[in-house]
Formats: sequence, C-alpha cells, structure tokens
Amino acid sequence: MKPTKGIVLAGGSGSRLYPLSTICSKQLQPIYDKPLIYYPLATLMLGGIRDILLITTPHDMPLFQKLLGDGSQWGISLKYAIQTAPRGLAEAFIIGEEFINNNQVCLILGDNVFYGKLDFLRNALEKNIGGTIFGYQVTDPERYGVVEFGENGEVLSIEEKPKLPKSQYAIPGLYVFSSDVVNIAKNVQPSPRGELEITDIHNAYLQQNTLQVEIMGRGIAWLDTGTPESLLEAGTFIHAIEKRQGMKIACLEEIAFLMKYINEEELMRHIISLPNSSYRQYCEKIMTLQ
Ligand code: TTP
Repeated sequence: MKPTKGIVLAGGSGSRLYPLSTICSKQLQPIYDKPLIYYPLATLMLGGIRDILLITTPHDMPLFQKLLGDGSQWGISLKYAIQTAPRGLAEAFIIGEEFINNNQVCLILGDNVFYGKLDFLRNALEKNIGGTIFGYQVTDPERYGVVEFGENGEVLSIEEKPKLPKSQYAIPGLYVFSSDVVNIAKNVQPSPRGELEITDIHNAYLQQNTLQVEIMGRGIAWLDTGTPESLLEAGTFIHAIEKRQGMKIACLEEIAFLMKYINEEELMRHIISLPNSSYRQYCEKIMTLQ
C-alpha cells in the first residue's frame, strides 16, 4: 500500500452541542458504548493507516492523551497537535506539515462515523493521484460541501453549503490528498466566515484536473453527530447493530488484532490492563471469534 499518513481533526467549538460540549469536546462524547473519536480512528485503521496525528484544542488535548495514549496498545502511532482556534478544516494540513512530510495524507473529521464495507477507502488510497473525495447522497445537501456532476459523471464544481445545491451529493469528512496539499493549504485565504475552507483545496485539485470523486454507495452509513439529536440517533444506530450481531463496531482492539497490527500476546497484555467491563469481556472474546 502507498504509505499514507492519517490526520484526525478533532478541534472545533461544538457549539451546537452546548451544554454537553462545555466540559468535554464533541469527539469525546459517547456514541452508545465508546467515545465518538473511536469511530474515525477505526475507519483509518481499517484503511490500513497506522501513523496518525490527532489535532485538537489546548483544553482537550490532555483528555485525548489520557484516553488514547500513544496508540501502541493498538499497534499504531498516535501523535498530537494543537489548533488554537477553529480556523477551518484546511488548517489541518498547515499544522500537520512536518508530520505529512512528502507522504500522501488522509484527513478524517473527528465527528464523522462511517459504517459498512469500508474497503472504498483502501481503494482510494491506492488509486489517488492528487485529491480523492467522496460523494454521498443525502436529503439535505445544503448543509455540506456539494459536488456538481456533468453528463458523463465528470466533476463540474464543488460548492460549500450552497443555498441551491446542484446535486444531492454531499462530501463527507474524509479526504485523501497528495503531499502538495500542504502548499495548497498555505495559499488558501480565509472565507467570509473567517475559515480556511476545505472546498478551496478541492477546487485547487479540480483546476489541476487531479480531483477524483468516488461515490459512496447506499450500503455505507455516514452518520452525523453535530447536534444532540444526531448524536442520539448515531448511538441508537450503533446499539441496534451491536445488539443484533453481538459484535462491536469500532472496537479498536478487535481491529488492531484483525489487521495484525498486534498479535495475540500483545492483545492479552493490553486486555489485562482494562477494567472489568462488558468492553473487556468482548475483547477477551475476540480471539475465540477468529
Ligand atoms: P463543525 O461541525 O463544522 O464545527 P464544530 O465541531 O465546531 O461544531 P459547531 O458547528 O456545533 O460549533 O466541525 C466539523 C469537525 O471538524 C468537528 O470534528 C470539529 C472539526 N473542526 C476542527 O477541528 N477545526 C476547525 O477549525 C473546524 C472548523 C472544525
């Protein structure tokens, strides 16, 4: 696989979640039985990405470090960086410049939950030449970046939160870019709302003719978690599937073991450090599930 660095952007103000987000950031809130941040980490790990930078606020960084550590328990490397204010998604590439260092990079937003057959990400990492983003059909595209397609499926435009969307295809918070994204980001000017917009990065690749938009099919669930209601709905969704199957979604120990990032002995050593809980019992079962 092409060496790819992963960035999880987990800052922001979480204002729509007030008062929940006053003490604890959005990405540390529970989605049923685990913190939200586990889900984007699971997506990257399943995509084969093991070198990950988590960008967060000065207030939340120690909490993330307490929760996730250096990642070695899951056979990955986790580093941390601070975004001092929510100056926009594109700033992630400026903050992550040294970390990216001539590698392809995959950015995932810390509040994006994907569920389903996730091999689309592996394929995108393999195929990407400049930028690869995804298109996902939603009923309310005006809330997102929106892709406009031509007659032959070619990308005509990308617009951020358009009042009159030119398609139903929203762009989820998962992007793959070549290493020159750092220089592109440095040339982005703040938008009228004062943010370095990721849409400007997409448009730069579009102008270079190196932007791919892959359609994420209906077999994939892309869940929003920005409001109290969507947070609850995501939790209910995960609960329903986990209860039905008796298998956990985004259990990082299980993914690490399945992906062979850790072996049986390393898994056992880690499990022993977990408090007695249904999560630990599940981890103990992992080896017998293989
Ligand atoms: P948003 O949901 O757009 O913003 P937010 O999380 O600050 O929430 P609210 O709108 O309720 O105030 O952000 C999407 C994701 O990107 C989320 O995980 C936070 C993250 N983010 C940053 O880390 N830095 C930023 O500068 C921005 C704009 C978002």
